[in-house]
Amino acid sequence: MKLASVVLCAGKGTRMKSDRAKVLHPALGRPLCAWPLSRTVALEASPVVAVVGHQAEAVERAVRGEFPGVDVRFALQAEQKGTGHAVQCAAGALEGHDGAVLILYGDAPLVREETLSELLRAFRESGAKLALVSAVAPTPFGYGRVLRRDGRVVCIREQKDCSAEEAALTEVNAGIYVADARWLWAQLATLSPKNAQGEYYLTDLVERAAAEGGAAVVTAPFEDIAGVNDRVELAAVSRVLQRRINAGHMRAGVTFEDPESAFVDGRAELAADVEVGPQVSIRGRCRVGRGARLGQGSVLTDTVVGEGVEVKPYSVFEEAVVGASCTIGPFARLRPGTVLDEGVHLGNFVETKKARIGRGSKANHLAYLGDAEIGSGVNVGAGTITCNYDGTHKHVTRMGDGVFIGSDTQLVAPVTVGAGAYVGAGTTVTADVPPGALAVSRTPQRNIERWAERKVRKG
Ligand code: UD1
Ligand code: CA
Repeated sequence: MKLASVVLCAGKGTRMKSDRAKVLHPALGRPLCAWPLSRTVALEASPVVAVVGHQAEAVERAVRGEFPGVDVRFALQAEQKGTGHAVQCAAGALEGHDGAVLILYGDAPLVREETLSELLRAFRESGAKLALVSAVAPTPFGYGRVLRRDGRVVCIREQKDCSAEEAALTEVNAGIYVADARWLWAQLATLSPKNAQGEYYLTDLVERAAAEGGAAVVTAPFEDIAGVNDRVELAAVSRVLQRRINAGHMRAGVTFEDPESAFVDGRAELAADVEVGPQVSIRGRCRVGRGARLGQGSVLTDTVVGEGVEVKPYSVFEEAVVGASCTIGPFARLRPGTVLDEGVHLGNFVETKKARIGRGSKANHLAYLGDAEIGSGVNVGAGTITCNYDGTHKHVTRMGDGVFIGSDTQLVAPVTVGAGAYVGAGTTVTADVPPGALAVSRTPQRNIERWAERKVRKG
């Protein structure tokens, strides 16, 4: 059976009280709608259609960014007239598809692949025109209720259309369906907005399917189907996502000292024997190699960390590449374009930006290395600064292999320190240093005898 999918992402999300479309609010670093979309991508639904409307361009951009190389199509629902109308807007994008259509809502990120597989199986085996997922909600308020007669589903009643008796029911509609494509388009064309909200409800199709031989239903734990309508629910689903992701990493061999406090983006790749300290944040597309240790409070964004690296607490990485066996921090800051070879040591309060640092080089204390090309076996003393900016342009500082830079050195770029050269402490390097030379720019020290005593006398 061919399978296509439609994910509804056009609504404003009024209850979020936000200038940003609801489906763009991040959950574990990804826009909310990326989660249900990723489930249908994992099932190899093709094409995948995102229905966009409110802030359509921004939603489209975000979705494209999340799924490079995937055949995601976009259907515009210019005016949001309800979930039934939204699906109808996807018809054009699915022209020629005559299999099954899986439909999800962009605001329900917790659905599991197993639930979707079960739903597809129930749909196939029952021969029903439509199958849906239901759940028993501890507090069903806001959800559509599943109405049954003699155990069989007859229809969905939206909260605002419920009688008091119906509102007391706890079985709710998850907003996850699969339907036969041709049947779906024919039915959607005949929906009417005669309900409390004046909308075209997708949920009305359940009654139609029930009347035509029955709608198939699979049930899922409520936790898996919870939708996000406000920011309290956003925080709650984010927490669930985090628990699942961290548990997945733990099962794959990652140690978390405190999994409740570690924030790990859904796209992170962590190898076995990685150790994650408390309050660590791993954002964007990060990869962490085998045996690496991420100390308390370290923050990694779009960063690659090699095998056996030790990150000491409170170090911050952004678009950096850290080679195997490096030691970083505590309190180091690696900014975009930092590329470290194996075994580099960067200590406390060292900042790097667009810096390539060769094997085994060290900058252990208080340094700024920006626009720098540093060889291997280099020792950068405490307080060293590459003066890379002349007020208009950025310039490069180069240090050859085996260079020794004394403490409190300024390197006024563009400048090159040749291989094996030494720079004396406190030097301001304004001209290239030949390989093997010693550069010193300090004025010779003068001691004035009994100076303090005389100063006191002068008073
Ligand atoms: C919907 C269901 C309800 C179910 C609940 C599950 C309907 C009529 N009701 O209610 O039975 O229990 O989800 O979470 O379907 N959207 C559009 N275009 C529109 C309207 C909505 O794209 O015109 C999108 C929204 O962006 C959102 C999703 O559809 O991602 C659901 O819309 P929402 O308004 O949140 O529906 P609920 O009231 O939660
Ligand atoms: Ca909703």
